[in-house]
Amino acid sequence: MESKLHTILAMIVISSLVMVSNLLAGNRPQRSSISVEISQNVKEDLIQLREEEKLARDVYLYLYTVWDQWIFSNIAKSEQQHMDAVKKLLEKYDIEDPADIDIQGKFQNQDLQDLYDELTAEGTPSVEGALYVGATIEDLDLFDIYRMIGETDIIDVSNVYENLSRGSRNHLRSFLGQLMLFDEDYAYEAQFLDQDEVDEIYSSPMESGHR
Ligand SMILES: [Fe+2]
Repeated sequence: MESKLHTILAMIVISSLVMVSNLLAGNRPQRSSISVEISQNVKEDLIQLREEEKLARDVYLYLYTVWDQWIFSNIAKSEQQHMDAVKKLLEKYDIEDPADIDIQGKFQNQDLQDLYDELTAEGTPSVEGALYVGATIEDLDLFDIYRMIGETDIIDVSNVYENLSRGSRNHLRSFLGQLMLFDEDYAYEAQFLDQDEVDEIYSSPMESGHR
């Protein structure tokens, strides 16, 4: 009886020692949520992307008031979803939100502020010009998201980038399709992506899974 007790005590001591040595060696027990380190580059990308999606939403909301075309209000709703998806990542990774105070047409990023001013002015004189502005924004958005995709392998960040790029390709197809309806000679010239990439997107079908 006594020797059995000694054996049990010895086992308890040994397993405690193993736990302590594992902890000292850094072999901590697995937790259900694993915190992922996010690089400064990716943080900056997410901050930029949040306002870039806002640029799209705000320009389309403005152009809808000017032209009363369904395409602008419809795609603005989708851009709001894109903004929300990026916002969730900012919250998750504890990154300051540049659009926390969300005033339509106002941006912290001065380049995006300049673009907003420029693009709303370009979209005002004609509806073709407004649709061209839409294609320009999606062209820029895709160019930036494709670069960002190459800069991270964090799965939830990559998933958002993939969803947003699918949405942007669909938006680009919609704007180019409308542009052709208004004037079939009004060809869009790629400004950020290569022309081949734009042509390939336009000639391929709408993608499902995200608007
Ligand atoms: Fe878009």
